[in-house]
Amino acid sequence: MDEHDDWDIVSGVGITALAVAALRAMESTRDDALIDDPYAESFVTRSGITVPMPTRWADLSDSENRSDADKRWANFWAMTAAYLGVRSRFFDEYFRDVSTAGVRQVVLLAAGLDTRAFRLSWPTRVELFEIDQPKVLEFKDSVLEEQDALASCARHIVPIDLRADWPDALLHANFDPERPTAWLAEGLLVYLPGTTMEALFAHVHQLSAAGSWFATDESGPAIRSRIHDPGFQEFQRRLGLDMATLWPDDDRPSSGQWFRDHSWQVTTISRAQAADRYGRMLDEFAGDIMKGTLLTARLT
Ligand SMILES: C[S@@+](CC[C@H](N)C(=O)[O-])C[C@H]1O[C@@H](n2cnc3c(N)ncnc32)[C@H](O)[C@@H]1O
Repeated sequence: MDEHDDWDIVSGVGITALAVAALRAMESTRDDALIDDPYAESFVTRSGITVPMPTRWADLSDSENRSDADKRWANFWAMTAAYLGVRSRFFDEYFRDVSTAGVRQVVLLAAGLDTRAFRLSWPTRVELFEIDQPKVLEFKDSVLEEQDALASCARHIVPIDLRADWPDALLHANFDPERPTAWLAEGLLVYLPGTTMEALFAHVHQLSAAGSWFATDESGPAIRSRIHDPGFQEFQRRLGLDMATLWPDDDRPSSGQWFRDHSWQVTTISRAQAADRYGRMLDEFAGDIMKGTLLTARLT
């Protein structure tokens, strides 16, 4: 266990969940929005974070009149939000497709401030489990309760560190390993050491009945070169984060390889292809962020 064991929403890895909520809030305000997350902005405003994060696309619009540092900061958010919209929509469609295929059990690994339990329209009898750090889920539920948010499925929270015995906690929360499950690990793998990632996959595999699905996004080693991007440096400086310390730099199998080796049928799509699919122009931001992939896999 290390110094990130018990992070809250404005420190350590927890702050990355808040940043992703800010990005989803921004996406929701675009004229060509790929998702609508009506709760995302409230997480940022209720977090008490002292460095204001943009939550509307318009927050970036007058960046020409700002200092160079402000422009770098705005560029970071614009670039990342443009991609985040694509990723969010891709996984929204994943859940639509698995629901159509009849899957009624869902697990969000490292759910963070994901509000799919509330903002998507689920078929009846869907049981959805959210796993993340206790303080992250505590904060999330306090904000959602303030807004009288109602889940459109049966939602269960499982507050636990993914390095602990989370399968046991999941089973105690009434997860049924005999039913097909749709798993999602979104924005997570990059923070896990390779050994933890493989243990996570092994647990997912053990807990998956035939007909289960798994989805994730994978940044690959190219993410490390983001550290040299001036906008990314400004983001780290303002939030007091050293992302390199949160991204283990170790050898690891690709997720696709791991799941293929364990008899799952794997489909991958590059981030750039996903952007094309939704007509999102990312050329001006093309770079290392676009080198990653989005993966879905099915256990037959
Ligand atoms: C970038 S956020 C993504 C959250 C969410 N999936 C989304 O896309 O909005 C990363 C999340 O991983 C969670 N996380 C990272 N390592 C974890 C661990 N060891 N145990 C539990 N949660 C973890 C963080 O708390 C955070 O919520």
